[in-house]
Amino acid sequence: MRKTLIAGNWKMFKTTAEALSFAEAFKKLYKDAGAEAEAAICAPFTQLSALKGAFAGTGIKLGAQNVHFEEQGAFTGEVSPGMLVEIGVDYTIVAHSERREYFGETDETANKKLHKLFGHGISPILCVGEKLEHRDAGMEQEIVSGQLRKDLEGLGAGHAASLVIAYEPIWAIGTGRTATPEQVDSICAFIRRTACSIFGDEAGAQLRILYGGSVKPGNIAEILEIEDVDGALVGGASLVAEDFIKIVRP
Ligand code: 13P
Repeated sequence: MRKTLIAGNWKMFKTTAEALSFAEAFKKLYKDAGAEAEAAICAPFTQLSALKGAFAGTGIKLGAQNVHFEEQGAFTGEVSPGMLVEIGVDYTIVAHSERREYFGETDETANKKLHKLFGHGISPILCVGEKLEHRDAGMEQEIVSGQLRKDLEGLGAGHAASLVIAYEPIWAIGTGRTATPEQVDSICAFIRRTACSIFGDEAGAQLRILYGGSVKPGNIAEILEIEDVDGALVGGASLVAEDFIKIVRP
C-alpha cells in the first residue's frame, strides 16, 4: 500500500523567520486536520535546521532541494549528503527541471546523487518531465523513459520502496496550466511500467509517483484520483500554510 505524499518545494523562497512562521501555522493545521497523507517541506538549505526543530514530534517530513554527490571536497557552494544526514532530512529533490535547465544538472549527475542518497538513507524525489515542444511532438514518453533509464541506472529492486518519482511537465510549472487528468494518467502509468521493467513488477509497484505542475487546492482531488499518482510535488501553493493544508487534506 503506497502512502500518499504531498511534498512542498519552496524553491528559493522564504527567510528562516518566514519559514518558522509557516511552520507554526502549518503544524497546527496539520494536527487539527488529522491528515492521513504524509506532508513534507523541501526548503532551502539555510532553513533546514530550524524547520527540523519546528517540525519535531509532528510527523511532518523535511526535504532538501539538491545535494552534491561527493562526500566532501573543494566544491564551493555545495552541500554533501552527510551534511543532510546530520540535519535529519527525510527527502531530497534530485534533478528538478530548474536545476537541469539553469545549473547544468544532467542524467549522469542525477544518477550519482541517487546512489549517494540511498547510501545515506535519504529518500530521493527524482524529477522527470518533458518540455512543451516535446509534448507537442508526441515525444513525452521517449523523453521520460530516457531520463528514467539513465537516472536509475545501477539501482535495484531494494531501492524502489524508498524512491519517489515526480512527473513534472515543464510546461505546467508555475504557468497555471495543469496537465489534464488523461495526460497525467497516461504518462504516470507509463512511468510505472518503465519502473516495473527496471526493478521488476513487485518493486515497481511500491515506488511512489507524484505529479507536479500548478497543483492547487482546487485541482488536487482529481489528481489524486489517478491510479498511478501517489501524491504531488507542489511549488507556489506550498508557500502558504492555509493553501498547503488544503492540498494535504483536500
Ligand atoms: P508550481 O506548483 O508552482 O507550478 O511548481 C511546481 C514545481 O516545480 C514543484 O517542484
